[in-house]
Amino acid sequence: APKAKVAYVCTDCGADHNKWQGQCAECGEWNTLSEFVIESAAAQKAGGAGASRRSGWAGKVDPPKVTALKDVVHTEHARVSTGIGELDRVLGGGLVSGAVVLVGGDPGIGKSTLLLQAVAKMSGSLPALYVTGEESLSQVAGRAQRLDLPLDGISALAETGVEKILEQAVATKPGLIVADSVQTLWTDSLTAAPGSVSQVRESAARLVRYAKETGTAVFLVGHVTKEGGIAGPRVLEHMVDAVLYFEGESGSRFRVLRAFKNRFGAVNELGVFAMGDKGLREVPNPSAIFLSGSASPQPGSCVMVTREGTRPLLVEVQALVDSSPLSNPRRVAVGMEGNRLAMLLAVLHRHGGVGVGDQDVFVNVVGGIRVQETAADLPVLLAVLSSLRDRPLAERTIVFGEVGLSGEIRPVPNGEDRLKEAATHGFKRAIIPKANAPKGGRVGGMEVVGVERLSEALEAAG
Ligand code: TYD
Ligand code: MG
Repeated sequence: APKAKVAYVCTDCGADHNKWQGQCAECGEWNTLSEFVIESAAAQKAGGAGASRRSGWAGKVDPPKVTALKDVVHTEHARVSTGIGELDRVLGGGLVSGAVVLVGGDPGIGKSTLLLQAVAKMSGSLPALYVTGEESLSQVAGRAQRLDLPLDGISALAETGVEKILEQAVATKPGLIVADSVQTLWTDSLTAAPGSVSQVRESAARLVRYAKETGTAVFLVGHVTKEGGIAGPRVLEHMVDAVLYFEGESGSRFRVLRAFKNRFGAVNELGVFAMGDKGLREVPNPSAIFLSGSASPQPGSCVMVTREGTRPLLVEVQALVDSSPLSNPRRVAVGMEGNRLAMLLAVLHRHGGVGVGDQDVFVNVVGGIRVQETAADLPVLLAVLSSLRDRPLAERTIVFGEVGLSGEIRPVPNGEDRLKEAATHGFKRAIIPKANAPKGGRVGGMEVVGVERLSEALEAAG
């Protein structure tokens, strides 16, 4: 047999190197390179269907052809509804044929449940093969039964060998393959242990190739590791068309599915579900579920309107500011970026005249969701101020706005949308960027206070 070629892959950033070295040249991490066997010609054959069509990769290479873009016939991607509206939303309007979608999340968050429900819903339109490497077939059947899913529409396979899985796929031609989980997959073209980076990467690559050759859609389930990456290596994120993260707070029944990458749709789109005894239920109007629900306003709490994806959401930001015994007080952010919090506190000191240099500052976004947009800046600072002064914000107040380094309050997209949503939910007062404020200063029954500077915002918050 031809000698297998070897490459070295960084398990952190996924960069390729052709010789081993102690430090990854790409991301600078130490001791992250792991040996990876580039498949031999013999191993490629095991890749399954369509080998003859693969002339671009192996065998005779057709001479490259240059085409003017105007001559390229562009076809819209055919989409199939998954039967689950919130999942369709996050996918960008349904599942695209040949798309490979990585669904990541903590163990127990509900990945298998979600995909089993989707497979059942799609059984009429897109026959699927549900491949389980973690559970036995009887466990899968038991769950399907408990969820009242139609058992006759679901084909399952308990298998972890990619060659065997593809053999089955070639034979039964499903329109969709679910691989649960990608960490259990292995290919016999590599000698590395199952679960190792190179096995996971190569197994996923096989499925990706099969998907592209045959137009079969593929869901790869991936457990998130402690570091927060899928399967340790972020390599998979580069290989697939879409990466969806399934998140939730332990103890909360709400789950949020977020598109982190999507070649076929918008990123940051959120799908919201509630886990119940009949599995995951969609929450099509999730607007107000991320409020802590306390009857009267508490110090350190501020309600903001985010607009992750295409709909506004009311989300509560909580802050706890307390004098620190440490010479280097703590800044902890849960549900937002830590660096952003540090920057905002600096702006609060310099342009708001409020110093928290000797205080520990904890910020938490309620409901286990992650807020990534800058519209959270002002709500975070008002929550911090409210906790510091131990004084709640006025009742039924909402806040949003970006805070610039020179203390200016910048507008955010879709201000009108956000205001309407808040008014619908009975909020009475909004503190927002002046450029987002409507003329007349009212939306419905809500008074809108537009501010241009941080100092004005602090004043308006009282
Ligand atoms: P699961 O889909 O197995 O999670 P993952 O595949 O992401 O590891 O979901 C497991 C959890 O969901 C488990 O703690 C039980 C809970 N659950 C329910 O509450 N209701 C249900 O109907 C089902 C099927 C699971
Ligand atoms: Mg599972």
